[in-house]
Amino acid sequence: MSHLQEIKRFETCTPALLAAFETIVGQEHVLTAAGQASDDYARYGRDHTEDLHFTPDVVLRPANADEVSRIMRLCHENRLPVTPRGAGTGLSGGALPAHGGVVLSTERLNRIIEIDERNLQATVEPGVVNEAFQNAVKEVGLFYPPDPASKGSCFLGGNLAHSSGGPKAVKYGTTRDYVLNLEVVLPTGEIIWTAANTLKNSTGYNLTQLMVGSEGTLGIITKVVFRLLPYPQQNILMLVPFRQEEQAAEAVSAVFRAGIIPSGMEFMEREAIVWSSNYLNIPLTLPEDISAHLLIELDGQDLEQLYKEAEQVYAVLEHYDVGEILLADTAAQKDELWKIRRNIGNAVRYNSVYKEEDTVVPRAALPTLLKGVKELGRQYGFKSVCYGHAGDGNLHVNIIRGELTDEQWNHGLQEPIRQLFQLCVKLGGTISGEHGIGMVQRQYIGIALPEINLALMRGIKQVFDPHGIMNPDKIF
Ligand code: LAC
Ligand code: ZN
Repeated sequence: MSHLQEIKRFETCTPALLAAFETIVGQEHVLTAAGQASDDYARYGRDHTEDLHFTPDVVLRPANADEVSRIMRLCHENRLPVTPRGAGTGLSGGALPAHGGVVLSTERLNRIIEIDERNLQATVEPGVVNEAFQNAVKEVGLFYPPDPASKGSCFLGGNLAHSSGGPKAVKYGTTRDYVLNLEVVLPTGEIIWTAANTLKNSTGYNLTQLMVGSEGTLGIITKVVFRLLPYPQQNILMLVPFRQEEQAAEAVSAVFRAGIIPSGMEFMEREAIVWSSNYLNIPLTLPEDISAHLLIELDGQDLEQLYKEAEQVYAVLEHYDVGEILLADTAAQKDELWKIRRNIGNAVRYNSVYKEEDTVVPRAALPTLLKGVKELGRQYGFKSVCYGHAGDGNLHVNIIRGELTDEQWNHGLQEPIRQLFQLCVKLGGTISGEHGIGMVQRQYIGIALPEINLALMRGIKQVFDPHGIMNPDKIF
Protein backbone atom coordinates (compact mmCIF):
# COMPACT_ATOMS: atom_id res chain seq x y z
CA MET A 1 0.00 0.00 0.00
CA SER A 2 1.39 3.43 -0.88
CA HIS A 3 2.22 6.05 1.70
CA LEU A 4 -0.56 8.33 0.40
CA GLN A 5 -3.22 5.67 0.90
CA GLU A 6 -1.95 5.12 4.44
CA ILE A 7 -2.36 8.80 5.22
CA LYS A 8 -5.96 8.68 4.03
CA ARG A 9 -6.76 5.56 5.98
CA PHE A 10 -5.70 6.76 9.43
CA GLU A 11 -5.25 10.05 11.21
CA THR A 12 -2.46 10.98 13.61
CA CYS A 13 -2.79 12.15 17.18
CA THR A 14 -3.51 15.89 17.48
CA PRO A 15 -2.85 18.17 20.50
CA ALA A 16 -6.62 18.26 21.07
CA LEU A 17 -6.75 14.45 21.24
CA LEU A 18 -3.76 14.38 23.58
CA ALA A 19 -5.58 16.76 25.90
CA ALA A 20 -8.69 14.56 25.75
CA PHE A 21 -6.63 11.47 26.58
CA GLU A 22 -5.15 13.32 29.56
CA THR A 23 -8.60 13.97 30.93
CA ILE A 24 -9.43 10.28 30.63
CA VAL A 25 -6.33 8.58 32.09
CA GLY A 26 -4.51 11.43 33.82
CA GLN A 27 -1.46 13.26 32.55
CA GLU A 28 1.10 10.82 33.94
CA HIS A 29 -0.40 7.98 31.94
CA VAL A 30 -0.19 9.73 28.58
CA LEU A 31 3.32 9.20 27.28
CA THR A 32 4.80 10.87 24.22
CA ALA A 33 8.25 10.77 22.65
CA ALA A 34 8.77 14.41 23.62
CA GLY A 35 8.01 13.86 27.29
CA GLN A 36 9.98 10.65 27.97
CA ALA A 37 13.49 9.38 28.26
CA SER A 38 13.98 7.85 24.81
CA ASP A 39 14.64 4.30 26.09
CA ASP A 40 11.48 4.33 28.21
CA TYR A 41 9.44 5.35 25.22
CA ALA A 42 11.19 3.15 22.65
CA ARG A 43 10.31 -0.03 24.50
CA TYR A 44 6.63 0.52 23.61
CA GLY A 45 7.61 0.32 19.96
CA ARG A 46 9.27 -3.10 20.22
CA ASP A 47 8.44 -6.62 21.25
CA HIS A 48 10.55 -9.78 21.03
CA THR A 49 10.14 -10.07 17.27
CA GLU A 50 13.44 -9.90 15.37
CA ASP A 51 14.85 -6.36 15.63
CA LEU A 52 11.69 -4.58 14.51
CA HIS A 53 10.80 -1.19 15.91
CA PHE A 54 8.05 1.40 15.30
CA THR A 55 7.23 4.69 16.99
CA PRO A 56 3.70 5.29 18.29
CA ASP A 57 2.23 8.82 18.43
CA VAL A 58 1.26 8.24 22.04
CA VAL A 59 1.21 5.53 24.72
CA LEU A 60 -1.84 5.35 26.99
CA ARG A 61 -2.02 3.45 30.27
CA PRO A 62 -5.67 3.21 31.30
CA ALA A 63 -6.68 1.74 34.67
CA ASN A 64 -10.10 0.23 33.94
CA ALA A 65 -12.62 -0.76 31.29
CA ASP A 66 -14.40 2.57 31.46
CA GLU A 67 -11.20 4.45 30.57
CA VAL A 68 -10.46 1.98 27.78
CA SER A 69 -13.97 2.51 26.46
CA ARG A 70 -13.62 6.30 26.42
CA ILE A 71 -10.27 5.99 24.65
CA MET A 72 -11.73 3.64 22.03
CA ARG A 73 -14.66 5.96 21.32
CA LEU A 74 -12.27 8.82 20.59
CA CYS A 75 -10.02 6.67 18.43
CA HIS A 76 -12.98 5.28 16.51
CA GLU A 77 -14.41 8.75 15.85
CA ASN A 78 -11.02 10.11 14.86
CA ARG A 79 -9.75 7.08 12.95
CA LEU A 80 -6.69 6.73 15.08
CA PRO A 81 -5.08 3.26 14.99
CA VAL A 82 -4.80 1.45 18.33
CA THR A 83 -2.27 -1.28 19.12
CA PRO A 84 -3.03 -3.12 22.37
CA ARG A 85 0.07 -4.13 24.29
CA GLY A 86 0.75 -6.53 27.14
CA ALA A 87 4.30 -7.25 28.27
CA GLY A 88 5.73 -7.17 24.77
CA THR A 89 7.11 -10.72 24.77
CA GLY A 90 5.35 -11.68 21.52
CA LEU A 91 7.26 -13.28 18.66
CA SER A 92 5.09 -12.42 15.66
CA GLY A 93 4.98 -8.64 16.02
CA GLY A 94 1.39 -8.45 17.26
CA ALA A 95 2.18 -5.60 19.67
CA LEU A 96 4.16 -3.50 17.19
CA PRO A 97 2.49 -0.14 16.40
CA ALA A 98 3.10 -0.49 12.67
CA HIS A 99 0.85 2.50 11.87
CA GLY A 100 1.88 4.73 14.77
CA GLY A 101 -1.22 6.00 16.55
CA VAL A 102 -1.99 4.80 20.07
CA VAL A 103 -0.25 2.04 21.96
CA LEU A 104 -2.75 1.00 24.60
CA SER A 105 -0.77 -0.64 27.38
CA THR A 106 -2.63 -2.93 29.78
CA GLU A 107 0.12 -2.71 32.43
CA ARG A 108 -2.17 -1.01 34.98
CA LEU A 109 -4.99 -3.51 34.49
CA ASN A 110 -3.12 -5.88 36.76
CA ARG A 111 -5.47 -7.05 39.50
CA ILE A 112 -6.43 -10.56 40.44
CA ILE A 113 -10.02 -9.68 41.26
CA GLU A 114 -11.25 -12.95 42.73
CA ILE A 115 -10.22 -16.56 43.21
CA ASP A 116 -13.45 -18.50 43.61
CA GLU A 117 -12.35 -21.70 45.37
CA ARG A 118 -15.86 -23.18 45.48
CA ASN A 119 -16.24 -23.07 41.72
CA LEU A 120 -12.55 -23.46 40.77
CA GLN A 121 -12.60 -20.18 38.90
CA ALA A 122 -10.75 -16.89 38.98
CA THR A 123 -11.47 -13.42 37.62
CA VAL A 124 -8.45 -11.37 36.60
CA GLU A 125 -7.39 -8.40 34.54
CA PRO A 126 -5.27 -8.81 31.41
CA GLY A 127 -2.12 -7.13 32.77
CA VAL A 128 -1.49 -9.83 35.41
CA VAL A 129 1.78 -11.70 34.80
CA ASN A 130 1.16 -15.37 33.99
CA GLU A 131 3.41 -16.73 36.74
CA ALA A 132 2.00 -14.37 39.37
CA PHE A 133 -1.43 -15.78 38.58
CA GLN A 134 -0.19 -19.39 38.67
CA ASN A 135 1.40 -18.76 42.07
CA ALA A 136 -1.67 -17.05 43.49
CA VAL A 137 -3.98 -19.94 42.62
CA LYS A 138 -1.39 -22.51 43.73
CA GLU A 139 -1.50 -20.99 47.22
CA VAL A 140 -5.05 -22.27 47.53
CA GLY A 141 -4.27 -25.65 45.93
CA LEU A 142 -5.42 -24.72 42.42
CA PHE A 143 -3.74 -24.99 39.06
CA TYR A 144 -3.69 -22.72 36.02
CA PRO A 145 -1.76 -24.83 33.49
CA PRO A 146 -0.82 -22.62 30.48
CA ASP A 147 2.86 -21.83 31.02
CA PRO A 148 4.58 -20.07 28.11
CA ALA A 149 8.38 -19.95 28.31
CA SER A 150 8.09 -16.24 29.14
CA LYS A 151 5.69 -16.92 32.05
CA GLY A 152 7.81 -14.83 34.43
CA SER A 153 7.05 -11.67 32.46
CA CYS A 154 4.28 -12.23 29.88
CA PHE A 155 0.77 -10.95 30.60
CA LEU A 156 -2.37 -13.09 30.57
CA GLY A 157 -3.87 -10.65 28.03
CA GLY A 158 -1.10 -11.43 25.55
CA ASN A 159 -1.60 -15.14 26.26
CA LEU A 160 -5.27 -14.72 25.33
CA ALA A 161 -4.38 -12.81 22.17
CA HIS A 162 -2.49 -15.82 20.80
CA SER A 163 -3.95 -18.68 22.84
CA SER A 164 -0.44 -19.25 24.16
CA GLY A 165 0.60 -22.75 25.08
CA GLY A 166 3.88 -23.76 26.68
CA PRO A 167 5.12 -27.19 27.80
CA LYS A 168 2.02 -28.19 29.76
CA ALA A 169 -0.28 -27.71 26.77
CA VAL A 170 0.44 -31.28 25.70
CA LYS A 171 -1.61 -32.63 28.60
CA TYR A 172 -3.68 -29.63 29.65
CA GLY A 173 -4.37 -27.62 26.48
CA THR A 174 -3.64 -23.97 25.68
CA THR A 175 -4.97 -20.70 27.10
CA ARG A 176 -8.24 -21.00 25.20
CA ASP A 177 -9.14 -24.19 27.09
CA TYR A 178 -9.32 -22.28 30.39
CA VAL A 179 -11.39 -19.25 29.38
CA LEU A 180 -15.04 -19.13 30.42
CA ASN A 181 -15.98 -15.51 29.94
CA LEU A 182 -14.44 -12.22 28.86
CA GLU A 183 -15.19 -8.57 29.38
CA VAL A 184 -14.28 -6.83 26.14
CA VAL A 185 -14.20 -3.20 25.05
CA LEU A 186 -15.17 -3.15 21.39
CA PRO A 187 -13.38 -0.86 18.93
CA THR A 188 -16.44 1.42 18.97
CA GLY A 189 -16.26 1.73 22.76
CA GLU A 190 -19.14 -0.52 23.91
CA ILE A 191 -18.33 -2.87 26.79
CA ILE A 192 -19.62 -6.46 26.56
CA TRP A 193 -19.33 -9.79 28.35
CA THR A 194 -18.92 -12.61 25.83
CA ALA A 195 -20.58 -15.52 27.70
CA ALA A 196 -21.37 -16.72 31.25
CA ASN A 197 -19.23 -18.03 34.11
CA THR A 198 -20.31 -21.59 33.44
CA LEU A 199 -18.44 -24.70 32.39
CA LYS A 200 -21.01 -25.35 29.71
CA ASN A 201 -22.57 -22.90 27.35
CA SER A 202 -24.67 -23.64 24.33
CA THR A 203 -26.14 -20.18 23.91
CA GLY A 204 -25.43 -18.70 20.50
CA TYR A 205 -22.14 -18.17 18.72
CA ASN A 206 -19.01 -18.52 20.81
CA LEU A 207 -17.76 -14.94 21.05
CA THR A 208 -15.34 -15.93 23.81
CA GLN A 209 -13.37 -18.24 21.56
CA LEU A 210 -13.57 -15.72 18.73
CA MET A 211 -11.78 -13.19 20.92
CA VAL A 212 -9.14 -15.70 22.04
CA GLY A 213 -6.45 -15.81 19.37
CA SER A 214 -7.71 -12.66 17.63
CA GLU A 215 -4.41 -10.90 18.38
CA GLY A 216 -5.95 -7.62 19.48
CA THR A 217 -7.73 -7.06 16.17
CA LEU A 218 -11.33 -7.27 17.47
CA GLY A 219 -11.31 -5.47 20.80
CA ILE A 220 -9.55 -5.09 24.12
CA ILE A 221 -10.03 -7.71 26.80
CA THR A 222 -10.40 -6.00 30.18
CA LYS A 223 -11.44 -8.93 32.41
CA VAL A 224 -11.14 -12.70 32.15
CA VAL A 225 -12.89 -15.50 33.99
CA PHE A 226 -10.69 -18.60 33.94
CA ARG A 227 -11.54 -22.11 35.03
CA LEU A 228 -8.93 -23.87 37.18
CA LEU A 229 -7.93 -27.41 38.15
CA PRO A 230 -6.76 -29.01 41.40
CA TYR A 231 -2.97 -28.66 41.62
CA PRO A 232 -1.10 -31.88 40.69
CA GLN A 233 1.11 -32.47 43.72
CA GLN A 234 3.67 -34.89 42.25
CA ASN A 235 5.89 -34.95 39.19
CA ILE A 236 8.81 -36.77 37.64
CA LEU A 237 11.20 -35.15 35.18
CA MET A 238 13.67 -36.91 32.91
CA LEU A 239 16.17 -35.67 30.36
CA VAL A 240 16.72 -38.20 27.58
CA PRO A 241 19.72 -37.80 25.25
CA PHE A 242 19.49 -39.18 21.70
CA ARG A 243 22.31 -39.88 19.27
CA GLN A 244 20.10 -39.12 16.25
CA GLU A 245 17.73 -36.21 16.41
CA GLU A 246 15.17 -37.82 14.13
CA GLN A 247 14.90 -40.70 16.57
CA ALA A 248 14.08 -38.22 19.33
CA ALA A 249 11.24 -36.94 17.17
CA GLU A 250 10.09 -40.50 16.46
CA ALA A 251 10.09 -41.51 20.12
CA VAL A 252 7.57 -38.77 20.90
CA SER A 253 4.56 -40.43 19.33
CA ALA A 254 5.70 -43.86 20.58
CA VAL A 255 5.33 -42.66 24.20
CA PHE A 256 1.71 -41.62 23.61
CA ARG A 257 1.04 -44.86 21.76
CA ALA A 258 2.14 -46.68 24.90
CA GLY A 259 -0.74 -45.02 26.74
CA ILE A 260 1.15 -42.25 28.54
CA ILE A 261 0.15 -38.55 28.38
CA PRO A 262 3.13 -36.65 29.75
CA SER A 263 2.63 -33.17 31.24
CA GLY A 264 5.65 -32.06 29.23
CA MET A 265 7.35 -33.53 26.17
CA GLU A 266 9.92 -31.06 24.92
CA PHE A 267 12.44 -31.46 22.09
CA MET A 268 15.77 -29.63 22.17
CA GLU A 269 18.42 -30.08 19.55
CA ARG A 270 22.00 -30.03 20.71
CA GLU A 271 22.68 -26.40 19.96
CA ALA A 272 19.51 -25.26 21.75
CA ILE A 273 20.52 -26.85 25.04
CA VAL A 274 24.19 -25.82 24.72
CA TRP A 275 23.39 -22.18 23.91
CA SER A 276 20.89 -21.95 26.75
CA SER A 277 23.14 -23.47 29.42
CA ASN A 278 26.01 -21.21 28.30
CA TYR A 279 23.69 -18.20 28.39
CA LEU A 280 22.64 -19.11 31.93
CA ASN A 281 26.14 -20.08 33.02
CA ILE A 282 24.94 -23.53 34.00
CA PRO A 283 27.72 -26.07 33.44
CA LEU A 284 26.63 -28.97 31.26
CA THR A 285 28.80 -31.80 30.00
CA LEU A 286 27.36 -33.28 26.87
CA PRO A 287 28.93 -36.32 25.20
CA GLU A 288 30.08 -35.53 21.63
CA ASP A 289 27.70 -38.00 20.04
CA ILE A 290 24.46 -36.58 21.48
CA SER A 291 22.47 -34.62 18.90
CA ALA A 292 19.14 -33.95 20.66
CA HIS A 293 17.22 -34.35 23.92
CA LEU A 294 13.68 -34.97 25.02
CA LEU A 295 12.66 -33.45 28.34
CA ILE A 296 9.77 -35.56 29.60
CA GLU A 297 7.61 -34.69 32.61
CA LEU A 298 4.90 -36.82 34.18
CA ASP A 299 2.54 -35.33 36.76
CA GLY A 300 -0.36 -36.36 38.97
CA GLN A 301 -1.35 -36.88 42.60
CA ASP A 302 0.20 -40.32 43.19
CA LEU A 303 3.97 -40.76 43.02
CA GLU A 304 3.80 -44.58 42.89
CA GLN A 305 1.60 -44.33 39.83
CA LEU A 306 4.03 -41.89 38.22
CA TYR A 307 6.95 -44.29 38.74
CA LYS A 308 4.95 -47.00 36.97
CA GLU A 309 4.38 -44.63 34.06
CA ALA A 310 8.07 -43.74 34.04
CA GLU A 311 8.91 -47.43 33.69
CA GLN A 312 6.62 -47.61 30.67
CA VAL A 313 8.41 -44.61 29.18
CA TYR A 314 11.78 -46.31 29.76
CA ALA A 315 10.46 -49.42 28.02
CA VAL A 316 9.56 -47.34 24.95
CA LEU A 317 12.94 -45.62 24.96
CA GLU A 318 14.77 -48.96 24.88
CA HIS A 319 13.89 -49.15 21.19
CA TYR A 320 15.99 -46.05 20.44
CA ASP A 321 19.67 -45.22 20.51
CA VAL A 322 19.68 -43.14 23.70
CA GLY A 323 22.50 -42.13 26.05
CA GLU A 324 22.29 -42.07 29.82
CA ILE A 325 18.89 -40.82 30.99
CA LEU A 326 18.96 -38.21 33.73
CA LEU A 327 16.14 -38.55 36.24
CA ALA A 328 15.97 -35.27 38.17
CA ASP A 329 15.93 -36.13 41.85
CA THR A 330 15.54 -32.78 43.56
CA ALA A 331 13.23 -29.82 43.07
CA ALA A 332 16.32 -27.68 42.43
CA GLN A 333 17.49 -29.97 39.62
CA LYS A 334 14.04 -29.94 38.05
CA ASP A 335 13.96 -26.14 38.21
CA GLU A 336 17.36 -25.97 36.56
CA LEU A 337 16.34 -28.23 33.68
CA TRP A 338 13.17 -26.22 33.09
CA LYS A 339 15.15 -23.02 33.32
CA ILE A 340 17.46 -24.23 30.56
CA ARG A 341 14.48 -25.20 28.43
CA ARG A 342 12.62 -21.93 29.01
CA ASN A 343 15.64 -19.80 28.21
CA ILE A 344 16.41 -21.24 24.78
CA GLY A 345 14.60 -18.36 23.06
CA ASN A 346 16.48 -15.79 25.16
CA ALA A 347 19.78 -17.56 24.49
CA VAL A 348 19.19 -17.57 20.74
CA ARG A 349 18.25 -13.87 20.84
CA TYR A 350 21.41 -13.17 22.85
CA ASN A 351 23.52 -14.92 20.19
CA SER A 352 21.92 -13.44 17.08
CA VAL A 353 18.93 -11.73 15.57
CA TYR A 354 16.65 -14.53 14.38
CA LYS A 355 13.37 -15.27 12.66
CA GLU A 356 11.02 -17.47 14.63
CA GLU A 357 8.84 -19.94 12.73
CA ASP A 358 6.23 -21.56 14.98
CA THR A 359 5.58 -24.67 12.89
CA VAL A 360 3.05 -27.27 13.98
CA VAL A 361 2.10 -30.65 12.50
CA PRO A 362 0.31 -33.77 13.73
CA ARG A 363 2.65 -35.31 16.28
CA ALA A 364 3.65 -38.33 14.20
CA ALA A 365 4.78 -36.07 11.34
CA LEU A 366 7.41 -34.37 13.51
CA PRO A 367 10.37 -36.43 12.18
CA THR A 368 9.47 -35.51 8.58
CA LEU A 369 9.12 -31.84 9.51
CA LEU A 370 12.49 -31.78 11.27
CA LYS A 371 14.18 -33.45 8.33
CA GLY A 372 12.53 -30.94 5.97
CA VAL A 373 13.76 -27.96 8.01
CA LYS A 374 17.35 -29.16 7.89
CA GLU A 375 17.16 -29.92 4.16
CA LEU A 376 15.87 -26.40 3.45
CA GLY A 377 18.71 -24.99 5.54
CA ARG A 378 21.29 -26.90 3.49
CA GLN A 379 19.66 -25.91 0.21
CA TYR A 380 19.26 -22.19 1.00
CA GLY A 381 22.33 -21.74 3.20
CA PHE A 382 20.78 -20.87 6.56
CA LYS A 383 21.39 -22.22 10.02
CA SER A 384 18.46 -23.08 12.30
CA VAL A 385 18.16 -23.93 15.96
CA CYS A 386 15.12 -26.13 16.56
CA TYR A 387 13.30 -26.93 19.79
CA GLY A 388 9.79 -26.95 21.11
CA HIS A 389 6.71 -28.75 22.25
CA ALA A 390 7.30 -32.07 20.54
CA GLY A 391 4.28 -33.68 22.20
CA ASP A 392 2.10 -31.13 20.39
CA GLY A 393 3.99 -31.51 17.10
CA ASN A 394 4.93 -27.85 17.65
CA LEU A 395 8.50 -27.14 16.57
CA HIS A 396 10.03 -23.68 17.02
CA VAL A 397 12.40 -23.18 14.10
CA ASN A 398 14.77 -20.32 14.83
CA ILE A 399 16.51 -19.12 11.69
CA ILE A 400 19.75 -17.47 12.75
CA ARG A 401 20.81 -14.25 11.09
CA GLY A 402 24.51 -14.98 11.71
CA GLU A 403 26.53 -13.79 8.72
CA LEU A 404 23.61 -13.49 6.28
CA THR A 405 23.68 -10.29 4.19
CA ASP A 406 20.82 -7.76 4.35
CA GLU A 407 19.59 -9.06 0.99
CA GLN A 408 19.62 -12.70 2.15
CA TRP A 409 17.98 -11.79 5.47
CA ASN A 410 15.29 -9.48 4.11
CA HIS A 411 14.45 -11.25 0.85
CA GLY A 412 16.38 -14.48 0.43
CA LEU A 413 14.60 -16.28 3.26
CA GLN A 414 11.08 -15.73 1.99
CA GLU A 415 11.20 -18.66 -0.42
CA PRO A 416 12.54 -21.25 2.05
CA ILE A 417 10.10 -20.04 4.74
CA ARG A 418 7.30 -20.39 2.20
CA GLN A 419 8.46 -23.92 1.44
CA LEU A 420 8.71 -24.72 5.14
CA PHE A 421 5.11 -23.63 5.71
CA GLN A 422 3.97 -25.52 2.60
CA LEU A 423 5.57 -28.61 4.09
CA CYS A 424 3.68 -28.07 7.37
CA VAL A 425 0.38 -27.81 5.53
CA LYS A 426 1.18 -30.83 3.35
CA LEU A 427 1.82 -32.81 6.54
CA GLY A 428 -1.59 -31.80 7.90
CA GLY A 429 -0.29 -28.95 10.03
CA THR A 430 -0.34 -25.17 9.95
CA ILE A 431 1.94 -22.15 10.19
CA SER A 432 1.57 -21.14 13.83
CA GLY A 433 0.89 -23.26 16.91
CA GLU A 434 1.05 -20.64 19.64
CA HIS A 435 2.88 -17.47 18.57
CA GLY A 436 0.22 -16.12 16.23
CA ILE A 437 0.43 -14.55 12.79
CA GLY A 438 0.84 -10.93 13.86
CA MET A 439 2.82 -8.87 11.43
CA VAL A 440 5.68 -11.05 10.32
CA GLN A 441 3.73 -14.13 9.22
CA ARG A 442 0.80 -12.44 7.50
CA GLN A 443 2.42 -12.70 4.07
CA TYR A 444 2.25 -16.49 4.49
CA ILE A 445 -1.28 -16.93 5.84
CA GLY A 446 -2.62 -17.83 2.40
CA ILE A 447 -0.54 -21.01 2.55
CA ALA A 448 -2.60 -22.22 5.52
CA LEU A 449 -6.02 -20.67 4.84
CA PRO A 450 -8.04 -20.57 1.61
CA GLU A 451 -9.44 -17.26 0.38
CA ILE A 452 -12.96 -18.13 1.52
CA ASN A 453 -11.76 -18.54 5.13
CA LEU A 454 -9.91 -15.23 4.93
CA ALA A 455 -13.01 -13.53 3.51
CA LEU A 456 -15.06 -14.79 6.47
CA MET A 457 -12.42 -13.44 8.85
CA ARG A 458 -12.35 -10.06 7.10
CA GLY A 459 -16.15 -9.94 7.35
CA ILE A 460 -15.99 -10.58 11.10
CA LYS A 461 -13.34 -7.91 11.46
CA GLN A 462 -15.57 -5.43 9.61
CA VAL A 463 -18.51 -6.12 11.96
CA PHE A 464 -16.44 -5.57 15.10
CA ASP A 465 -14.26 -2.77 13.81
CA PRO A 466 -15.93 -0.79 11.00
CA HIS A 467 -13.12 1.76 10.75
CA GLY A 468 -10.38 -0.86 10.91
CA ILE A 469 -8.52 0.90 13.72
CA MET A 470 -7.83 -2.12 15.99
CA ASN A 471 -4.31 -3.38 15.49
CA PRO A 472 -4.49 -2.80 11.74
CA ASP A 473 -2.70 -5.05 9.26
CA LYS A 474 -2.15 -7.87 11.71
CA ILE A 475 -3.09 -11.48 10.84
CA PHE A 476 -4.31 -10.74 7.27
C1 LAC B 1 9.17 -21.42 23.84
C2 LAC B 1 8.54 -20.19 23.31
C3 LAC B 1 9.42 -19.52 22.31
O1 LAC B 1 8.57 -22.47 23.76
O2 LAC B 1 7.29 -20.45 22.77
O3 LAC B 1 10.29 -21.34 24.36
ZN1 ZN C 1 6.80 -22.46 22.77
